Amino acid sequence: MRHAAAKANRWEDHYARLARKERYPARSVYKLQEIQKRFGVVRRGSAILDLGCAPGSWLMHAAEIAGPSGCIVGVDLTPVTVSLPAHVSVYTKDVFELVEDPVAFFGRPFDVVLSDMAPATTGSRGVDAARSHHLCEAALAIARQVLRPGGSFVCKIFQGEDFKSFTAAVQGAFPECKIFKPQSCRKASKEIYLIGKGKTGGPHVRS
Ligand SMILES: C[S@@+](CC[C@H](N)C(=O)[O-])C[C@H]1O[C@@H](n2cnc3c(N)ncnc32)[C@H](O)[C@@H]1O
Repeated sequence: MRHAAAKANRWEDHYARLARKERYPARSVYKLQEIQKRFGVVRRGSAILDLGCAPGSWLMHAAEIAGPSGCIVGVDLTPVTVSLPAHVSVYTKDVFELVEDPVAFFGRPFDVVLSDMAPATTGSRGVDAARSHHLCEAALAIARQVLRPGGSFVCKIFQGEDFKSFTAAVQGAFPECKIFKPQSCRKASKEIYLIGKGKTGGPHVRS
């Protein structure tokens, strides 16, 4: 019994409790808050694409910062069930279906692309990191096509053997590129965020 309770509480921590208190559906909101505080990626009126947006805490926070003059579009395999303001729209979709021509799909450019996508974990660090890298490549391919010149990219990656090459790919598209581990990331997690700013090239460039 005690073992079951301990297991159920394994992920309960300060940030999980705070998220519940502040009515966000996930503790991951505090990672975006830290990224925003440090790098100021989202501005009032920004058009934001949020890849891997469920259950919706980044959508909610991005919508608060951008305000009603902004536009937030989310994509996830899983439907988002929280109630969202009118300037947020969500597609239940696999991002790999969008890589080929996201400009045609969304029909608009964006100022910011966020990707907090994570694969279903297997327990094997190598497999999980490889799957995370695959998602990151899709996110970067989409960002390169839909971002306006000067746009920003935030991407979570599980550190593994592809981390260096993916960082180099982000640096190739964003002259300002930083690596950042928010305090609110779980200590045992291998996740880390790349923040690219000042995207070069037009919004319709395919990689
Ligand atoms: C850590 S959660 C994102 C949490 C979100 N940022 C929030 O604050 O609510 C990672 C998400 O990535 C999504 N995901 C994983 N693979 C995906 C794919 N191929 N296409 C779209 N979403 C994907 C998962 O369904 C999951 O909801």
